[in-house]
Amino acid sequence: MGIFNADTDHEQVVFCQDKPSGLRAIIAIYSTALGPALGGTRFYPYASEAEALHDVLDLARSMAYKNAMAGLDLGGGKAVIWGDPERDKSEALLRAYGRFVESLNGRYYTACDVGTYVRDMDVVAKETRFVTGRSESYGGAGDSSVLTAYGVFQGMRAAAEHLWGQPTLAGRRVGIAGLGKVGKHLTGHLLDDGAKVVATDVSERALEWARATHPQVDLVDDVQELITSDIDVYAPCALGGALNDDTVPVLRAKIIAGAANNQLAHPGVEKLLADRGVLYAPDYVVNSGGVIQVADEIEGFNFSRAQQRAGRIYDTTKQILQLAQAEAIPPAVAADRLAERRMAEVSRLRSILLR
Ligand SMILES: NC(=O)c1ccc[n+]([C@@H]2O[C@H](COP(=O)([O-])OP(=O)(O)OC[C@H]3O[C@@H](n4cnc5c(N)ncnc54)[C@H](O)[C@@H]3O)[C@@H](O)[C@H]2O)c1
Repeated sequence: MGIFNADTDHEQVVFCQDKPSGLRAIIAIYSTALGPALGGTRFYPYASEAEALHDVLDLARSMAYKNAMAGLDLGGGKAVIWGDPERDKSEALLRAYGRFVESLNGRYYTACDVGTYVRDMDVVAKETRFVTGRSESYGGAGDSSVLTAYGVFQGMRAAAEHLWGQPTLAGRRVGIAGLGKVGKHLTGHLLDDGAKVVATDVSERALEWARATHPQVDLVDDVQELITSDIDVYAPCALGGALNDDTVPVLRAKIIAGAANNQLAHPGVEKLLADRGVLYAPDYVVNSGGVIQVADEIEGFNFSRAQQRAGRIYDTTKQILQLAQAEAIPPAVAADRLAERRMAEVSRLRSILLR
């Protein structure tokens, strides 16, 4: 895949190499229309350089839309490190990476993603100022799943209000696929709200956690059983691609709102959902609590301020669902339109000369 073609609108793509430490990284900046690009660093053993490039371009674009709808004054970017995090990660590699991030002079802020952790960002931070998601002892925002789950819950409340008239899940059955970092916190919010939770996970440890902590949660064998059971809301909180040609026709839930990124397996799934009368709360809108949490670190982390910002996911989701209804378009399309509108409107302001 080249980058100078009609499918890619990215501003800048930087290839970074440091042979002694084994660093091979690509930093992609999709847009700085709203401010410096923010997005995490994925450390992953891609099959090829082309696959790594494809992933980073996709992820950087998604971050621009997510940050725009989260109300952040930040653009969208992402980085990938091509390698096996278990085998290849070292202090030298992370610090070499940090120096490349620094060389962009604030056009790109990095953070954690698949294969990178808070402790890694502490190492990257030795070489660059442009890093978030550090540990709390370094003034960082810590584990972003706390506000990710809070935001998903707010988006779900907005969808419940849109469909059933009340912003609550009380008395509803909510199916959670994936009791990981986000799924666990989400279970707590839902039970506190009076919902009944049905869940599944492939990890025995996660299931044990549920049995021990919340014995009232119904556990089912797999995602197929979950989505075909009698649930009102489905929250995909495991992997991407949860909504596809096989799953959409058998869904029983009337609302989808979950944390997983890229839930729609391919373009067109949003239409299949709408045709079946399933209300889809767009993934990148409802799961933006995590980026809101780490973005707050740029100003000096304050949990209650970040939580207040994540609480606005409720209003944003409502706005998107109302626009979708008024214009008879799927909510995913409405969200993209609002994100593009904000990027265009705010960046246009720079044409007003200040001096
Ligand atoms: N953590 C965040 O702040 C954040 C922010 C935005 C988006 N997300 C997305 O939300 C999702 C969950 O994130 P997380 O941080 O909780 O990850 P995690 O790795 O802690 O949890 C994922 C859970 O899903 C389970 N799982 C994997 N495959 C499964 C399957 N086929 N069926 C059932 N369960 C399965 C895993 O065992 C694990 O318990 C991911 O897609 C992530 O990209 C997370």
